[in-house]
Amino acid sequence: MVVEFQTSQHQCLANKIDITGQAMLPLKIKDRPIVRALLAAGCCARCVLRFCCVGLQSAYRQTYEDLATELHAFVSEEGDESNDTTKQENSEDPPCKKARLETVQGNSEGGDPAGVPQTQPGTDVDAAVSSVCVVCLGVLQQHCDKTFAQKVSEAVTAEGYQFDSLVLSVSLPAQLSVREHSTWLLVKKQVRDKGTCLGKDDVIQVKEAFKWIMNGLVSQELGVPVLAKSLFEVSVGFTHPETDGDCHFLATTCSDCFKPARNKLSVFTRMAVVKALEKISEDNFRRLFPCPPSRPSTGCTPQDVQCLHMSVFVAGRYNKFSRTLPQTPWVIDGERRMESSVEELITAPLLSSFRYEGFNFCSSGREDVDVRTLGNGRPFAVELLNPHRARFRKAEVRELQEAINKSSDKIRVRDLQIVTREAVARMKEGEEEKTKSYGALIWTRTPIEKDDIEFINNIKELELAQKTPLRVLHRRPLAVRQRLIHTMTASFLDPHHFHLNLRTQAGTYIKEFVHGDFGRTKPNLCELMKADTDILELDVESVDVDWPPAIED
Ligand SMILES: *[C@@H]1O[C@H](CO)[C@@H](O)[C@H](O)[C@H]1NC(C)=O
Ligand SMILES: *[C@@H]1O[C@H](CO)[C@@H](O)[C@H](O)[C@H]1NC(C)=O
Ligand SMILES: [Zn+2]
Repeated sequence: MVVEFQTSQHQCLANKIDITGQAMLPLKIKDRPIVRALLAAGCCARCVLRFCCVGLQSAYRQTYEDLATELHAFVSEEGDESNDTTKQENSEDPPCKKARLETVQGNSEGGDPAGVPQTQPGTDVDAAVSSVCVVCLGVLQQHCDKTFAQKVSEAVTAEGYQFDSLVLSVSLPAQLSVREHSTWLLVKKQVRDKGTCLGKDDVIQVKEAFKWIMNGLVSQELGVPVLAKSLFEVSVGFTHPETDGDCHFLATTCSDCFKPARNKLSVFTRMAVVKALEKISEDNFRRLFPCPPSRPSTGCTPQDVQCLHMSVFVAGRYNKFSRTLPQTPWVIDGERRMESSVEELITAPLLSSFRYEGFNFCSSGREDVDVRTLGNGRPFAVELLNPHRARFRKAEVRELQEAINKSSDKIRVRDLQIVTREAVARMKEGEEEKTKSYGALIWTRTPIEKDDIEFINNIKELELAQKTPLRVLHRRPLAVRQRLIHTMTASFLDPHHFHLNLRTQAGTYIKEFVHGDFGRTKPNLCELMKADTDILELDVESVDVDWPPAIED
């Protein structure tokens, strides 16, 4: 990604070997005027490398001081192209056609800064070491070293996460893009004057350079690999209030780019700024923004390190044995009605192990507060947000299940397991087609005999039309649902009570089928029996969803 020059013979002259034989800056003679211009503009040493499209990561990983010293030496070397031509003619070295890393012993000063007269062009180098970079605003100068890596690592360690890799993400102030653009125009002019070409995409991004340097250092501190992708994300961010105003002129050039968003503090987001920069013409930009950018007096401020672990999904099946337990917290007019809920009873015992920061509970259907769920239980999955620990052995998951079982006699959990996000979707798949079995205690106003309920056993595949029940009309739209009752079995208890088992399509409103919901469910049990009936108790006997897979005890 280094600028390609037509005259390749000069390339090797600038590449020197230091005492240890290590290849040094992969800069070419042709880069020298660009380097000088960038340093004069107030760019830091690493930003100079970026704009020279140096893709050699180790070049960035040198300490900032070493790099600045080398750049100093590089620009202080005599001559530019015209003078170098003479040099090349004097040189015995054959033209170098190989990779830019090729090293040739030039006029060897060994990179010793003491050997470089301070009067040479490049006194700006000293400024580049001490003053804040006009482009990266200090990110690559002051926050790109072992000390900063230690700070980041300490912050991560203090959060107490368990992780075996991480991805480092960087958020930079939006105005950095504006300054980058301005500097790019400066370089472009230089390069154009020299008749060479260079694409903006060839410039190394600040973020990229930052990661080249920091990934290894953070990895060393924390003892885990820092990867491009990981379940655990460590974010470092920087702000620079002094130059926040840099972006504002863009609002006049592209008002469409800056739309207020609900969750954003400022309309000048990085994305919006980049979009506006793509639209603005070069002339217009030069007219409205200094090129090179103005010199800042302060460096940017690192924000608190943010850690985020991807959600972990825990699935299982639950039984609910209580008729006074809602599935989710029951709050009416801001007041809590029931002291607990299924989701709380399941998730609370998981808190100390996963140390999550929130959860989303979902299940295959749900039962009313007064309905028990028996049999094999109801499939559920809970997304635990930002867990501090996400890996558990099978035996540990079993212990968690036991902890849930022991925490309350209102619920039990089986088949508890950690699953993927994708697998959770399987619980919802084809839910409508699934079968559910219920047991109900039915009351009849008029006395019955055994024979009066026999006919119920012969009803098969009964089709119902159910208008949205009155009791849920406040949260569901009015609609008519077609549902099937596959089979029913009635068992006589006494002249006013019988037990009714039903196998139905999922989503059938059982209570409404029994009492008729003022004729909103048709047909209903009252109609079929030609008598007033009501439902006293209801239990879910089975939910025939074959997910999650059974776990052997
Ligand atoms: C060549 O180098 C000399 C000093 O060594 C300098 O005075 C002269 O201006 C340079 N030539 C060009 C064309 O820049
Ligand atoms: C939890 O309770 C369920 C339902 O009774 C049972 O199947 C399961 O084995 C229990 N698990 C543990 C670990 O106690
Ligand atoms: Zn910089």
